[in-house]
Order: sequence, then structure tokens, then C-alpha cells
Amino acid sequence: MGSQPVAAGAQAYNYSVVRQFAIMTVVWGVVGMLVGVIIAAQLAWPALNFDIPYLTYSRLRPLHTNAVIFAFGGCALFASSYYIVQRTCQTRLFAGPLAAFTFWAWQLVIVLAAVTLPLGITQGKEYAELEWPIDLLIAVTWVSYAVVFFGTIVKRKTPHIYVANWFFGAFILTVALLHIVNSAVIPVSMTKSYSAYAGVQDAMVQWWYGHNAVGFFLTAGFLGMMYYFIPKQAERPVYSYRLSIVHFWALIFTYMWAGPHHLHYTALPDWAQSLGMVFSLVLLAPSWGGMINGIMTLSGAWHKLRDDPILKFLIVSLSFYGMSTFEGPMMSIKTVNALSHYTDWTVGHVHSGALGWVGLVSMGAIYYLMPRLWGRTEMYSKRLIELHFWIATVGIVLYIAAMWIAGVMQGLMWRATNADGTLTYAFVESVKATYPYYVIRLLGGVLYLGGMILMLYNCLMTIRVGKPEDARVPAVVAHA
Ligand code: HEM
Ligand code: HEM
Repeated sequence: MGSQPVAAGAQAYNYSVVRQFAIMTVVWGVVGMLVGVIIAAQLAWPALNFDIPYLTYSRLRPLHTNAVIFAFGGCALFASSYYIVQRTCQTRLFAGPLAAFTFWAWQLVIVLAAVTLPLGITQGKEYAELEWPIDLLIAVTWVSYAVVFFGTIVKRKTPHIYVANWFFGAFILTVALLHIVNSAVIPVSMTKSYSAYAGVQDAMVQWWYGHNAVGFFLTAGFLGMMYYFIPKQAERPVYSYRLSIVHFWALIFTYMWAGPHHLHYTALPDWAQSLGMVFSLVLLAPSWGGMINGIMTLSGAWHKLRDDPILKFLIVSLSFYGMSTFEGPMMSIKTVNALSHYTDWTVGHVHSGALGWVGLVSMGAIYYLMPRLWGRTEMYSKRLIELHFWIATVGIVLYIAAMWIAGVMQGLMWRATNADGTLTYAFVESVKATYPYYVIRLLGGVLYLGGMILMLYNCLMTIRVGKPEDARVPAVVAHA
């Protein structure tokens, strides 16, 4: 990678850390999705764990979620926030060596997760499985990230702070708070600890964390990406800057209260469950405000969608965002949740958000960044980007449609009763009925992973043989 021409702006901006995170986004994407495909296959054919403890579903599942959320999603967020904060503040990243530290420390966290989770070392809290020494490393890395990001904001050369940075800033601060509070434990050895909270408080803290991990890790940061890359790629200003500010404040205020919808019909007090439900319903408004703002940015430039595959990734991701943020509030209604909870409907909802929103927007962002970071005129192959878009989209549709049908079917089978009050179906009958849908989901996952492998190839070829950008391009291209 050393022999490439210097990218435009590389002297003015710190691109090396952005490059590192950008390439690792694609690498971890392939790894995390491959593990997703393996566990999807195991659900259809359980013998695929080969009786090896390290390969059991229970150990690979958290490996998948950690790899796709924190490695793939995390690297995409680091790369784009470091790029965007520099470009929109028109200044070089604050504390370069600390930024480099965040890269290596984050990769270490990922490697430690990849080692400890298959060994069965876990706190058993979803999305917060990693044991306390790794949690400490995450806390140090995250605080360093905050110093680099906010340090850059402080030394900005622009009078205002572009809205994308508001979203990134909220994401960084909130994730620090969530992680530190939810990870409070009493360690008993290097690999074992007990939560500082007990019983229902533990559950509430965990789902306050879990839901806001969705709201801030899987949403706010990616909205930051959306607010930068859609206007850039469409070459249009944001549809409404005012709406983006309302969107920001309404979203971050509302998300905080919605966590109890994960604990419907549990020992959590009823009023807290209802509060979670109401705030989840309210959340529809800011979520859709943001989606509309992103999509309407294309006003007058709709024709660009026809032959710009990067824009397709970005705009279709917003459609999935709209879909999953409509579905989520519906699922938080207690009577609906009574049907959906424990079923594959939840998994369908998760992946319409994860594959459709988080995945596609990250891919669009990385395709935008790659040539710019390596000083290339464009991506190696536009046709491969187009192909990636279509197979990923077909993969998502197969995945989520299969899970919706399976989920509603499971919910209805479990609650069906005969006239004498006995259950109509044994549990195993619902498992058997789900089998074909698990195979269809696997097919969808294979397509999605296939697209990611094409992306890796396209990125590597862009770096290796892409056409160098004209070296005379001015070093600083000012834009907000
Ligand atoms: C090739 C792509 C993928 C495949 C085949 C796949 C497959 C799976 C499977 C089989 C599960 C377990 C479901 C269960 O326990 O019943 C799962 C869970 C999960 N996956 Fe994926 N996945 C993929 C991509 C992703 C991506 C890109 C993300 C996030 C950005 C993601 C986030 C999650 C989450 C959060 C869960 C836990 C869901 C829950 O607890 O309800 N997945 N995935
Ligand atoms: C307005 C926005 C949203 C609301 C109100 C919402 C609501 C919900 C509800 C009610 C559940 C089911 C809880 C249960 O029965 O256990 C759920 C699960 C989940 N949602 Fe959403 N959702 C929203 C948006 C999203 C988005 C955009 C994503 C992903 C990017 C997402 C990711 C998840 C995940 C990962 C879970 C599974 C948690 C678990 O049990 O492990 N949600 N959501």
C-alpha cells in the first residue's frame, strides 16, 4: 500500500487512520457475515457444530453479533467519523498518535473477542458479552476516540458544527455512558465476573444498554454517515437543515426511554413497560423525519439513482431504515409483542435494520471513501458495485421475508389451543415447520456474504490497480 500516490487532501488531513479503519470494515464484514452464514446453517442442520465445543451455536452466535456490530459496524463508524469530522471542520484530526492508538486498540478488542467467545468466556449479557479486562480496554479506547473526535471539533476552522458531527458526537458520548454503566461488575478472576446489579435491576440496566446500543451504535452514528454521504453523492444540499436539528434532538431524547420494550411481560413493573411502549411509538416520528430528510435530499436528482450504484446503496438503506423503524414501534405494542417476542419475527426485524440499514449505508460510505482515500479516480469496477447492490438486496429480502413468515407462524402455533384448553401444537412441531424458512434465510445470507466478498475484491483492486487521481488536484478541497 506504500507505493500509492498521495490522495488529495492527504497532507492537510490525516487519512492513514481512515484508510486503516475503512479496509478493516470490509475485512471484518466478510468475517462477521461468514460466521452469520455458519450459524444460519447450524440452525437448519445442527450437526454442523461437529460436536466441537468451540463451534457450538451458543458460542458462535455472540461471535457473529460482536463481529458484525462492533468490528464491521464499529470500523465503519470510526472510518467515516474520522473522515467527516476533518472534512467538515476543515482541519486535521486532533492528536494523530491517539487516533492511531484507537485503531490498534480496537483491533485488539476484536481479536480478543474472537478468542474468548469461542472459548465460552462470557458475561452472558447480550451485546455486552466480553469479560471485564476487555471491557476496560474498550473503555480506554472509547475515551481516546472521544478525545480525538471532540478535540478536532474544538480546533475546527468553520464557524458551525455540521449536523453529521452532532450525530457522531451523541453516539460517542452515549456509548461511553452505556458501556461504563452496564459493564459494572465484581471480578472474581481474569475471566469471570458477576454483575454489580441484581435481578430485575440487572435486566433493566442491560436493556437500557441494549436498546440504546441499537439507538446510538446502530443508528445515530450511521445517521451521521447518511447526513454527509447522501448530500455528497447526490451533489445536493441536505433537504432541510432545520429538520435535521429537530430530528437530532427528538431522536436522542426519545431513544433513552424505550428500553423496557425488551422486557414486556417480565417482572419489570408494568408502568415501566408501558412507558417503554409509549416512547417507542413516539420514536416513529423522529425516525421517519430523518428518513424523509435523507430521501428528499435527492429532490431534483432522482435520475442519478438510475446509474449511480453508490447512491442506490445509500437511498435503499434509508428505505430499510424507515421500514424497521415502523416495524419496531409496532412490535413494542404489548399485544403485538405477546405474539412476536421469542419468535423469528424479532430476528427478521433485527436484520432488516442490520442488513438493510446499517449494512447498506456502510457499504455505500466505504465505496464513496475508497477511491478518495487512496487517490484513485474511481472504484476499480462500477459494474461489480451494481452487482453487489442487487445480490445484497435480494439476499435481504429473502432473509427478512423468511423470518417474518416463520415468526408469525411460530407465534400463532404456540398460542393455538384446542376446545379443551390443551395446546394444539407441541413445540417441536413449530421447530419442524420452521425448517424451510431457515434454509431460505441461509440462502439470503449466502447472497449477502457473496456481495461482501465482491466488495473486498473490488476494494483491493482499487488500491492495487486503480487509476491514480491527477496529482495536481488541490490539497484542500473545502466543503461542508
Ligand atoms: C450474511 C449475513 C448475516 C447472516 C446470515 C446472519 C445470520 C444470523 C443468525 C442465524 C442469527 C441468530 C438468530 C437466532 O438466534 O435465531 C443472527 C443474529 C443476529 N445478527 Fe445476524 N446475520 C448476518 C448479518 C448481520 C449483520 C450485518 C448484522 C449487524 C450489523 C447482524 C446482527 C445480528 C444481531 C444483532 C443478531 C441478534 C438478534 C437477536 O438477538 O434477536 N447480522 N444473525
Ligand atoms: C423506532 C425504532 C425502533 C423501535 C421502537 C424498535 C423496537 C424493537 C422491539 C419492540 C424489539 C423486540 C423486543 C423483544 O420482543 O424482545 C426490537 C428488537 C431489536 N431491534 Fe428494534 N426497534 C427500532 C429500530 C431498530 C433498528 C433501526 C435496528 C437496527 C439497526 C434495531 C435492532 C434491534 C435489535 C438488534 C433487536 C433485538 C434485541 C434482542 O433481543 O437481542 N431496531 N426492537
